[in-house]
Amino acid sequence: MPEPRVTIRTLQEKKQRGEKIVMLTAYDYPFARLAEQAGVDALLVGDSLAMVVLGHETTLSVTVDEMLHHTRAVARATRRALLIADMPFLSYQVNEDEATRNAGRFLKEGGAHAIKIEGGAPVVGLTHRLSRAGIPVVGHIGMTPQSVHELGGYRVQGKDPAAAQRLLDDALALQDAGAGLLVLELIPAELAARITRALKIPTIGIGAGPHCDGQVQVLHDMLGLFDWFAPRHAKRYAQMGAEVERAIAAYVREVSAGEFPAGEHSFSAPALAETPERK
Ligand code: KIV
Repeated sequence: MPEPRVTIRTLQEKKQRGEKIVMLTAYDYPFARLAEQAGVDALLVGDSLAMVVLGHETTLSVTVDEMLHHTRAVARATRRALLIADMPFLSYQVNEDEATRNAGRFLKEGGAHAIKIEGGAPVVGLTHRLSRAGIPVVGHIGMTPQSVHELGGYRVQGKDPAAAQRLLDDALALQDAGAGLLVLELIPAELAARITRALKIPTIGIGAGPHCDGQVQVLHDMLGLFDWFAPRHAKRYAQMGAEVERAIAAYVREVSAGEFPAGEHSFSAPALAETPERK
């Protein structure tokens, strides 16, 4: 019997039981398969795709169609994990009708089970509307990378009492509007603990300390595949960038030296060896 699909409700029950939730980003079929086999609860097709896969400087450039392309690939690999897709910059900020249509595409065309949108008070109304339309919403507050230019860089948010109170108010408002989960990015651990205690819905931290109900990491950061930029909150569980480079350099060496392909990688048809070559 296949394991039942993880849902937002499953994750809310995990919070109630005090069990930690594991979320990871994924952008393609093979890594999504591996992540699911390794036991993650939820896969996020993050708009970090723009940076770690497509080579853009920020997350702002990725389009709905590009996000959908990758969401479909991840959906093909997931049988058990909850699949969340990020709505990219300007796909939900223009107006709520357009936002609802775009959000629906992630469920209908992408195979996602929920969408994630960034922001506090400005997206409370939209969160309410999407939830009422049957589109599960994951909120995201704190450092919201789509506002990197407005925030003046990737900085820890909520460091003074007034800013901390605003984030707590945003968290409660998003929960009341129907958000099912809330990502907390780059905020002090003490504030994340306070928000986590105040909410019934699970908090998922990234750079938000150990007291969140769960954690999310960017796959390429934790595998050491994006090694030209290392955020402090990311832990390297592998050095895959170096390993991949080593393997490709060995291939280059062997082909150049005529050592690859060897006999075991080649095919032979003895009849051809016996056929005299035509002059
Ligand atoms: O795009 C992304 O990968 C994210 C995570 C950092 C939460 O939003």
